[in-house]
Amino acid sequence: MIKIGVLGAGSMGSGIAQVAAQAGHQVVLVDKNEEQLANAKSKLAKVMARLVEKAKLTADEAEAIQARIMYGSNMANFKGCGMVIEAIVENLAIKQQVFAELEGLLDQDAILASNTSSLSIASIAASCKNAERVIGVHFFNPAPLMPLVEIIPAVQTSAKILAETKAMVDSWKKVTVVAKDTPGFIVNRVARPFYGEALKIYEEGVADFATIDWAMTALGGFRMGPFTLMDYIGNDINYTVTETVFTAFYFDPRYRPSFTQKRHAEAGWFGRKSGRGYYDYAEDAVKAEPNKNEVLGNQILKRILVLLINEAIDAVFLNIASAKDVDLAMTKGVNYPKGLLAWANEIGLANVLSALDELYDEYRDDKYRASVLLRRMVKAGESFEL
Ligand SMILES: NC(=O)c1ccc[n+]([C@@H]2O[C@H](COP(=O)([O-])OP(=O)(O)OC[C@H]3O[C@@H](n4cnc5c(N)ncnc54)[C@H](O)[C@@H]3O)[C@@H](O)[C@H]2O)c1
Repeated sequence: MIKIGVLGAGSMGSGIAQVAAQAGHQVVLVDKNEEQLANAKSKLAKVMARLVEKAKLTADEAEAIQARIMYGSNMANFKGCGMVIEAIVENLAIKQQVFAELEGLLDQDAILASNTSSLSIASIAASCKNAERVIGVHFFNPAPLMPLVEIIPAVQTSAKILAETKAMVDSWKKVTVVAKDTPGFIVNRVARPFYGEALKIYEEGVADFATIDWAMTALGGFRMGPFTLMDYIGNDINYTVTETVFTAFYFDPRYRPSFTQKRHAEAGWFGRKSGRGYYDYAEDAVKAEPNKNEVLGNQILKRILVLLINEAIDAVFLNIASAKDVDLAMTKGVNYPKGLLAWANEIGLANVLSALDELYDEYRDDKYRASVLLRRMVKAGESFEL
């Protein structure tokens, strides 16, 4: 088994190191900040103790997993690693510098992977002389618990490196999907309307946060409503992702950010972590009650759902990923109750199209334009083969 290097011992890097060590690899976890390394080590000890308590691991296994991780503050420790996964700060210039340095430290055939959420893999790979061995390996938070990993070959990546990387991550019992190197890859692109349309519905005064969340969970079966989820992710982070995707798509109105979320972020109302977001998390706070009117709830659900489905269909149309992988990504990466394309088949593609066209006619906003693939499939009377 090859030795795996992980650069960055923050929330993602420490989780990825755990995944690789649990799969049996020797792991080298490097962070320039010693305190982060110490935190990662004690956090892992706690997680392992809990798994032993729950009888998911024996004490010996837990000890062996921890012993397989070597902690270091210098990239020279990566010598001999067959693959290094980078999970440091989301900054292109810093990542490029690190990749250029990594390339010189590792063997010719070692894989260089980045866990970036929003930067292009091509731009990171461009910092290496041997760019064909650079690839995106995008885990979801928390890495040990979320099954999905998006594998993103850059235009420069060789077919061999793609196949090797996919096989490696598959062997870690993860669900892998291959995505094109485009903004947001699959999940962070297709999920945009879950937040954006919910915010728009609120801004139009159609319903309040609690009612929209109730419609999506009680009627739609989503595990968390959009406002609860944005408060969980953090409005600062979620807003930045939306703005980055919007800019990267040359200001396509489909990804337009919301002033409501921007103001919440500016106010420091990040969500759970700051004690207040769309909801108040103080102990004595009065819980917001939804309006459980099912007619209204179903209107809200339908509006958000058809936009999500439209994004999923457009991702297939533009070859971002296969239909099967798009559905896998949304169910395994963000726990959607059903794959969006399977859901589209169930509702009927013609019904999805007419709901979108109704919105488009009313708003005259390109945000609501239906995917060309959806229109073609309806014309041909087709549905998705999944
Ligand atoms: N947090 C998420 O939900 C999430 C999900 C998927 C992907 N990502 C991506 O993963 C990466 C890391 O995110 P995170 O949330 O774990 O960040 P984090 O801030 O928790 O951790 C980053 C770590 O990198 C270290 N670091 C920074 N520069 C370094 C350098 N030059 N050399 C060595 N160590 C360095 C920092 O000390 C810190 O410990 C980012 O690219 C992010 O976009 C994050």
